[in-house]
Amino acid sequence: MFIDCSEKERFIFKKIAHAAEQLGTECYIIGGFVRDKILGRKTKDADIVCLGDGIELAHTVARQFTPSPKVSFFKNFGTAHIKADDLDIEFVGARKESYRYHSRKPEVMPGTLEDDQKRRDFTINALAVSLSKANYGALIDPFEGMKALEEKIIRTPLDPDQTFSDDPLRMMRAIRFASQLQFSIDENTWNGIKNNIERIHIISRERITDELNKILLSKKPSVGLDLLYQSGLLHVIFPQMIDLAGAEYKDGMGHKDNFYHTLQVVDNIAEHTDDLWLRWAALLHDIGKPATKRFEEGHGWTFHGHEVVGGRMVPKIFARFRLPMDHKMRFVKKLVELHLRPISLTKENITDSAIRRLLFDAGDDIDALMTLCKADITSKNKQKVKRYLDNFEMVRHRLESVEESDRIRNWQPPVTGEMIMEIFGLPPCKQVGDIKNAIREAILDGHIENNYDAAYDFMLTTARALNLEPVK
Ligand code: CTP
Repeated sequence: MFIDCSEKERFIFKKIAHAAEQLGTECYIIGGFVRDKILGRKTKDADIVCLGDGIELAHTVARQFTPSPKVSFFKNFGTAHIKADDLDIEFVGARKESYRYHSRKPEVMPGTLEDDQKRRDFTINALAVSLSKANYGALIDPFEGMKALEEKIIRTPLDPDQTFSDDPLRMMRAIRFASQLQFSIDENTWNGIKNNIERIHIISRERITDELNKILLSKKPSVGLDLLYQSGLLHVIFPQMIDLAGAEYKDGMGHKDNFYHTLQVVDNIAEHTDDLWLRWAALLHDIGKPATKRFEEGHGWTFHGHEVVGGRMVPKIFARFRLPMDHKMRFVKKLVELHLRPISLTKENITDSAIRRLLFDAGDDIDALMTLCKADITSKNKQKVKRYLDNFEMVRHRLESVEESDRIRNWQPPVTGEMIMEIFGLPPCKQVGDIKNAIREAILDGHIENNYDAAYDFMLTTARALNLEPVK
């Protein structure tokens, strides 16, 4: 077989070939599975295309196994799915199709293998391996997909205008594959993307986000993010990122280009984590800068409060991309809000109380926050970078020693609001909140110890100043 498959995969493909022979039809493995096998990437999905009815083939294949796997199928689309071993196999009849201009829904007609290969997005995704008796295992490659894989090129099999106009999501896919595989995009194909940017509007936000997430999860996300920017797609899907681009000069003073700085931070963090949400935090950490940019005479450019403004933008951006509005969004928002705090702790004379406050505010996300802060160092000056990193190491030690003695991380003050209400016979009201905050502040500032007795005594003193006495 042209591709290098495991024993189990070979066993499964033989069964499929046998089923096709029983039906007197031809079938092929096609698309991502063939591409990934040639590239030596892991893959658990195989697409099978046959000349005829994909659903009938799936049922015939299922019967080759004992016990027979369940066949799920969609009559309208003519597709069927089975899971054999841990391989997800999708069956479909070869087709030719043309898309209507305002929709992604194609008009589909049965076609030959080559018709089917032609309607696919890229030549590297149009490679097929035969499962037919006459040429079992042979590569069928009418569009030089193999050459494109060797040359590391993303290219459409047809005129790119047609391929992208048929399905504009493919513009995102081209850039995503370039980022994931570190391939370049063929010039003609690239121009096709630029010509069809506006067509991205007919694609659902969820699918765009899916591709954006895959770009963010790639080894060097800046490749894909920069291509999104250069093509003009980013202007349409994520205008807030565009506002970061460019450096302005006044009185001979400039500021860095925050777009390319952000890309560098995302690449830096990608070396330390595969966590999508931490990568999102890196992408959004400076998103509040354009809105807070000021020029102060004699001083230069400032972005005061950009972390607060940026934090406020996070829920809106998550909603726009249909990203989850749950703890993942709150994690990203928190990291954006806190991303300057560890830097402020690298100055001299930092008190334990400042360290305690950061532990309290960051809670369990303190390590993620430190990872983000380190990634945020993008200076080209090696000595400067070393100084920053050494300072962060010091902050880390301080965080560890304060945490060890005070246990502030994920800490709840020893006296709760309910207890205050009960002791003073109060309904929920501002005074309860004031007393609770005063106790928390006193502990964080180190004025009283972090235990119940100290907090109780302090509560009584604070309440007395508000003319409150315990009811029992
Ligand atoms: N395909 C296409 N146009 C699309 C999506 C998919 O032509 N918009 C074709 C490609 O031939 C692709 C195959 O359908 O290889 C399977 O698509 P999919 O499973 O989405 O992608 P893969 O190429 O397998 O890659 P990945 O799993 O990384 O998304």
